[in-house]
Amino acid sequence: MNHSLNDSSNNLSSDSPNSSLENSLENIAVSVRHLDYYYGQGDLRKQVLYDINLELPKGQIVIMTGPSGSGKTTLLTLIGALRFLQEGSLNVLGQELVGLSKSELVEVRRNIGFIFQGHNLFDSLTASQNVEMAVEVLKDWGNKRQRATEMLSQVGLAERVDYKPKALSGGQKQRVAIARALVNQPSLILADEPTAALDKQSGRDVVTLMQTLAKDQGCTILMVTHDNRILDVADRIVNLVDGHLESDQNFTTFNQTHDPKALV
Ligand SMILES: Nc1ncnc2c1ncn2[C@@H]1O[C@H](COP(=O)(O)OP(=O)(O)O)[C@@H](O)[C@H]1O
Ligand SMILES: [Mg+2]
Repeated sequence: MNHSLNDSSNNLSSDSPNSSLENSLENIAVSVRHLDYYYGQGDLRKQVLYDINLELPKGQIVIMTGPSGSGKTTLLTLIGALRFLQEGSLNVLGQELVGLSKSELVEVRRNIGFIFQGHNLFDSLTASQNVEMAVEVLKDWGNKRQRATEMLSQVGLAERVDYKPKALSGGQKQRVAIARALVNQPSLILADEPTAALDKQSGRDVVTLMQTLAKDQGCTILMVTHDNRILDVADRIVNLVDGHLESDQNFTTFNQTHDPKALV
């Protein structure tokens, strides 16, 4: 399949009729169109994202690479409805984010699972309680302890549900974070350098697990990583350099045209 940026721009060009736009959106988890983003005000205003165009079809695992400071986290937090859009449009799971209020953005976030670099677990809570916190954002909790325990079993932590983070290894903590991100069966997972703090084998285990669970649940994953050891899990790789989306290709093409060391 060809996923070039030009193709996706053509699919959703602004002069296409509305009906075809809606049809194509049914299969698209995220559509970013002409997105610019700036930090700061006045003289200090600095552009960090330039005319980003990107479509994530449902069910794909897409990896975003790029040097430090190129704007990856900023783009991820925009897609995750964690900050307000400034210019351009952004459709996430069928919802246009432009013009949404804070509470409407919170609603969008209910369908997104977040996994961050530093796992962000609460040290005073057990693994199960950390996962249960995610269940509590649902309107109907059901049996949250049972849901949390089942999800922790799926990530291989059945024996660790009542352990606190300090009694877990780095890889185990990251697996708790994955359980927390997946327990509500989100349609979209956004992961920001989820293997950064892990050794090679734990990093590999963590992404393989994400891949398996995502395929089982049919969700879309956008994962930022510097880690060239895990690029092969991607259906597709996009590369962000100085706020510009520079390439968009499958793993084999990416590997042939990029020096892996240049990613770090
Ligand atoms: N809250 C902020 N205020 C001002 N500048 C920021 C802020 N966050 C990030 N930046 C700047 O925006 C640019 C992109 O940052 P970021 O999105 O974190 O990049 P990456 O995740 O690719 O390392 C960098 O130059 C960074 O210094
Ligand atoms: Mg970052």
